[in-house]
Amino acid sequence: MSQKQPKLIIHGGASSLEDKGGLLAVRQSLHKIVLEVYQLLLAGGTATEAVLLGCELLENEPRFNAGTGSVLQSDGQVRMSASLMDGQKQRFSGVINVSWVKNPIQLAKALQSEEDRVLSDYGSAHLTRDLQVPIYDPATDFRIEEWIEERKTNFQSKMARLYADPEARRGTIGVVALDQNGYIAAGTSTGGKGLEKIGRVSDSAMPAGNYANRYAGVSCTGIGEDIIDECFAAKVVIRRTDGLSLVEAMERSMQESQTNQRDLGAIAIDSTGVIVWGKTSEILLAAYHTGEKIEDTLEWFGSGELSGGHL
Ligand code: GLY
Repeated sequence: MSQKQPKLIIHGGASSLEDKGGLLAVRQSLHKIVLEVYQLLLAGGTATEAVLLGCELLENEPRFNAGTGSVLQSDGQVRMSASLMDGQKQRFSGVINVSWVKNPIQLAKALQSEEDRVLSDYGSAHLTRDLQVPIYDPATDFRIEEWIEERKTNFQSKMARLYADPEARRGTIGVVALDQNGYIAAGTSTGGKGLEKIGRVSDSAMPAGNYANRYAGVSCTGIGEDIIDECFAAKVVIRRTDGLSLVEAMERSMQESQTNQRDLGAIAIDSTGVIVWGKTSEILLAAYHTGEKIEDTLEWFGSGELSGGHL
């Protein structure tokens, strides 16, 4: 098989324009992570290995709402969800509402080879014990203070902040990679919407929010319920599989989301190396490696009208 040029795109959430504070630091974080993960792809790493590394680095960055720095739910607890989809095997695995671990994406990875591949809170807790994963508290002072403030107004906010900046709301992280063998993988990890009811299930550990096959991979961010209602990631991948270009698949799916007044964003790569992103929300924090250089979506902040781009 002839070697392909690897491609990579990552995101750190989607949100509204009021969240613009701290963007320079977010951009620096995203670029640094893209560079490190792209080196792995250039050295012959698989798409799945790249997605795991990217998700782990994003989970370890307290700015983003995943792993360390995850938002707190209505009862003041952190519960995280993550999924991994290996596009070559077309195999999905994930954990829902797991607590006391550093990298939920590693649990999703461990489930790839299991018969039971998606575990909820109780099962995830057993898995962490079986794997002897060290206990880790991902709650940061910022998120605890945010929760205390929200409690004063009886949790009126729709979602917690996007990233750890006083002006920001919402978030999730995600990675889509194409490796030198032409295989694709997608990973998504989140602390959830924040301030949600106990037991609420995020899109991030569903094929609606994270999906890949041999043709394309997609990771979503934004309001989980909107992403689930559109079945967004799987829809884009299936449209690409059925013959639409990735750009057409993303544009058509975003147009439908806009019509249905959804609040979401998505990143995608296909097997020909096309990189695409789109959003109905005002801000999508994403960065990507074209093979020649690193770019990002941060200059695309605009009126909140449907927007996106591709290479
Ligand atoms: N998209 C993340 C969530 O709604 O949980």
